[in-house]
Amino acid sequence: MVSRVIPVDSFDLVVFGGTGDLARRKIFPALYRRYVACQMPEDSCVIGAARTDYDTAEYRKVIGDAIREFGGSAAKEDKKLKEFLARVHYVKIDAKGSDGWSDLAGMVRKDLVNAFYFSVAPGLFAPLAERLHEHNIASQTSRIVVEKPFGRDLDSAKDLNGILARHFDEQQIYRIDHYLGKETVQNLMAVRFGNILFEPLWNSQYVDHIQITVAETVGVGGRGGYYDKSGAMRDMIQNHLMQLLCLIAMEPPSRFDPNGVRDEKVKVIKALEPVVPHHIVRGQYEATKTQPSYRDDAGDPKSRTESFVALKCNISNWRWAGTPFYLRTGKKLKARASEIAVVFKDAPHAIFGQEAGRHRNILVIRLQPNEGMTLGVTIKEPGPGGMRLIDVPLDMTFAEALGPEVADAADAYERLIMDVIRGDQTLFMRGDEVEAAWKWTDPVVQGITDRHDVPKPYRVGSTGPDDANLLMKRDGREWREIRE
Ligand code: NDP
Ligand code: BG6
Repeated sequence: MVSRVIPVDSFDLVVFGGTGDLARRKIFPALYRRYVACQMPEDSCVIGAARTDYDTAEYRKVIGDAIREFGGSAAKEDKKLKEFLARVHYVKIDAKGSDGWSDLAGMVRKDLVNAFYFSVAPGLFAPLAERLHEHNIASQTSRIVVEKPFGRDLDSAKDLNGILARHFDEQQIYRIDHYLGKETVQNLMAVRFGNILFEPLWNSQYVDHIQITVAETVGVGGRGGYYDKSGAMRDMIQNHLMQLLCLIAMEPPSRFDPNGVRDEKVKVIKALEPVVPHHIVRGQYEATKTQPSYRDDAGDPKSRTESFVALKCNISNWRWAGTPFYLRTGKKLKARASEIAVVFKDAPHAIFGQEAGRHRNILVIRLQPNEGMTLGVTIKEPGPGGMRLIDVPLDMTFAEALGPEVADAADAYERLIMDVIRGDQTLFMRGDEVEAAWKWTDPVVQGITDRHDVPKPYRVGSTGPDDANLLMKRDGREWREIRE
């Protein structure tokens, strides 16, 4: 299967924070891969901007090295890399000072699409936005891209929205949640709304419960300082898992367009019931003989921040009343595995008798790795000896069904950056959506603080603390196994 490349208009993209980790690991490698895929028009330019004193040649070397390290197989083509780097420029700039701004003004071409990626700490958003206007660099058609975390609670998210709104319209603001750029996450919408098969069953009459798992094997590593102030609730649940939940639970929008999709997502978030204390389990990984504990990684021997969360939530609306959603995410778990499991109810009447056992259809949407979908169906066990039933998977691993190139498909940042250039906000969070997500998250986090809740320890390489299993067991259910 050969993927089609949809051309975009020529652009100038300024990456503020162009010397930072995100720029080197994600943004530039993504742009380079789009260049190799012939999606970056020849006269487009990418301008890195930061305080470090580089000239253009030095900066191109830094970016070239980063692309070689993080750009995957495409980065092996030296000729292409050289061509791409010729389109990369640098300007030494201080977001809080006056240096460099008139140079930047002379570099950004107003007759092209221009986008400004704020790949810097949120404290710099206001000075960047102000200076872009003071120096007449941004116009009413410019786009700005901002990264997570978008605030750490409702108040700070409102403040950030306020700061950006002073200088930009909502249509110009692209708030990134990179999970929305993942191939299979978009496939959730394709599966639900492109097939007639699932939608009639997609409600509490037929769905017993839904499980969303994002399990990681990595710890917090060098990001302990940031992570310890956030924890899994703010770092993962408030954004990535919440987005997955929205895509699974939302009503069909009348059109696949930015506001159609985002209006429906906001309705889901607003219909989420508060999480009661006994429906949330938090955990922290413990040290092994060879590996540090969460507290070691965080640099705080008394830290109560969670590296694992499992919770049960309910959506108060006509479609989902009575169908719980179980969310689980954690670091240093048994395997890297992200999936959504839609567990259907039992058939209404067991015509094969008790001895045939309990059989349930489960639709598993596998986000990473090994992207694909599996539908568990019940069939007769082959052979004589009566009607014995077994469950078999109808398996559609995308790499097998569509060819190995899907494994090398565009990564989330490639797709999202190209959507910015195209002016398509469908896969970006709207301001009210982020605020609604914090409005639901804040009381959960506050409750944890008020209860002086201590996270349960769990073994590195396990499935999290035992209490997470109890959360399910109490409801007569169980988590699916975490496996790659
Ligand atoms: P880094 O600390 O690695 O980079 C910060 C960048 O900001 C550097 O390029 C730094 O360059 C620049 N900078 C700092 N102060 C100024 C200033 N006064 N004027 C101009 N430039 C300045 O951060 P990351 O790249 O990791 O993160 C950037 C943003 O992306 C953050 O908001 C982060 O939360 C978010 N993010 C990061 C992820 C990641 O994987 N790294 C993942 C998801 C979100 P210099 O010192 O040269 O000025
Ligand atoms: C980031 C979180 O947003 O997503 C990290 O800050 C997490 O803590 C990462 O590890 C997971 O992303 P992915 O794409 O590796 O699943």
